[in-house]
Amino acid sequence: MSTPSPPIAIIGAGLSGLTLALALYNHSIPSTLYESRPSPLDIGGAIMLSPNALKILDFLGVYQHIAPLGFHFEKLYFRSHDDIPIDDFDFSSRDKHGYKALRIYRYQLINVLLSMVRNAGIPVHYNKKFSQVTSETPESVTWTFADGSSATASLLIGADGIHSRVRKHIYPDLTPKFTNMIGVTAAVPRAQLQAEPEYPLPVTIMSPKRGAFVIAPQRADGSEVLIGKQKRLEQEYDRAGWDELMENKSWCVDFLRQGSKDFPPIVAHAVSDIPLKGINLWPFYIVPKLDTWTKGRVVILGDAAHAIPPTAGQGVNQAFEDVYTFARVVAKEREQYQSLEGGDAVRFGRTLKKWQLGRQARVDKVLELNDKLNKRRLPDAGEVGDLEPFELDWLYGVDFEELIAEWAS
Ligand SMILES: Cc1cc2nc3c(=O)[nH]c(=O)nc-3n(C[C@H](O)[C@H](O)[C@H](O)COP(=O)(O)OP(=O)(O)OC[C@H]3O[C@@H](n4cnc5c(N)ncnc54)[C@H](O)[C@@H]3O)c2cc1C
Ligand SMILES: *[C@@H]1O[C@H](CO)[C@@H](O)[C@H](O)[C@H]1NC(C)=O
Ligand SMILES: *[C@@H]1O[C@H](CO)[C@@H](O)[C@H](O)[C@H]1NC(C)=O
Repeated sequence: MSTPSPPIAIIGAGLSGLTLALALYNHSIPSTLYESRPSPLDIGGAIMLSPNALKILDFLGVYQHIAPLGFHFEKLYFRSHDDIPIDDFDFSSRDKHGYKALRIYRYQLINVLLSMVRNAGIPVHYNKKFSQVTSETPESVTWTFADGSSATASLLIGADGIHSRVRKHIYPDLTPKFTNMIGVTAAVPRAQLQAEPEYPLPVTIMSPKRGAFVIAPQRADGSEVLIGKQKRLEQEYDRAGWDELMENKSWCVDFLRQGSKDFPPIVAHAVSDIPLKGINLWPFYIVPKLDTWTKGRVVILGDAAHAIPPTAGQGVNQAFEDVYTFARVVAKEREQYQSLEGGDAVRFGRTLKKWQLGRQARVDKVLELNDKLNKRRLPDAGEVGDLEPFELDWLYGVDFEELIAEWAS
């Protein structure tokens, strides 16, 4: 490289940001992470990873560290309020796609990613809250932090989540939209369910009147289960209001317990003793489809670009697809043209556009899948034997190399 390039700056050291730093490092592209929190996020709750994301984490050397920590499974099961199987959904197939799905605590995944980032010598600055872009040239971008300091980089990546501040640079007036659905989750010992060992888990039990109740094993041995209820809530709160509601543990416990008698007995057992420590409240917000994820030297990805409803469990999995393909596209561009900074900004913009449209097309297919799943789960959708299984090879069996070759050509 003729001129030493300022590093790529990543705002947000969450799942997207940390993984992006590792993916760039794999191509010897330096980056720096800035995180507004004082320390790594340590909220409870596990997330589900499907083979499209696991393949990426495997390539980056992360999978071997997380596989022993989580619960492996293949299907999600759906049952009626009277405990009759109504549907199932492949979350993976080891035979077809190489991996079983993995449920792992978010903090465990973040800890593994963070220690790999630190081992790679990638700087992570906590207590650094991105504030706003102050100037841009064709080669670089300069911004400020809330503490008044500023920094410059060749590329500024907003991996700062659904309420992204970096996104304000591209869409000053956009705010995420509340879907009027919330979920409250907690963690209880599996033994508390008093269920037969063969009772199919993870399960979602659907009550037309009461909403959906989820039971999903976690920890490597499945000895603990997440219990969670999703239900409409007409009222929207501001952020402080949501925090206050989540801190109101008796409200959350009541929410989980309401209407238990309209579900099979396993639900009453599940909510009989709820440790307050593991309770989370999750209002479902979405980001409407955006025309662009880039402006000049600023790029958004992950939840900042496309926060989607949780139906198909793809939120975080799609974020991993973003960061991996983004790093590959940037690396290809560097290989071909020696640098991003001194090169042709117009050409680089075109490459990023192709990447964005390609990624959006996959996110759109996930949104279609969400719709189909929601329709199938209406009370009169049919019996389990009548339903065609979904064709999901496009999702779990994706060939990233093919896509990247197309986008970075
Ligand atoms: C309770 C809960 C449960 C969930 N469960 C699932 C699940 O089971 N499966 C699934 O697929 N998805 C799940 N999701 C969604 C999933 O968490 C997101 O898709 C995923 O976290 C997106 O990752 P991200 O890194 O893009 O954003 P985030 O995880 O939101 O990370 C953004 C990071 O940026 C930081 N940041 C924000 N603003 C600034 C700023 N101005 N300056 C610097 N840093 C900043 C934040 O502190 C944070 O660390 C869940 C979400 C919640 C809230
Ligand atoms: C990048 O990832 C590949 C595949 O896992 C690995 O073989 C290679 O050593 C990695 N390179 C760096 C610099 O980390
Ligand atoms: C918690 O919620 C309950 C039930 O809605 C309400 O009566 C109570 O005032 C709330 N407590 C706090 C501290 O907000």
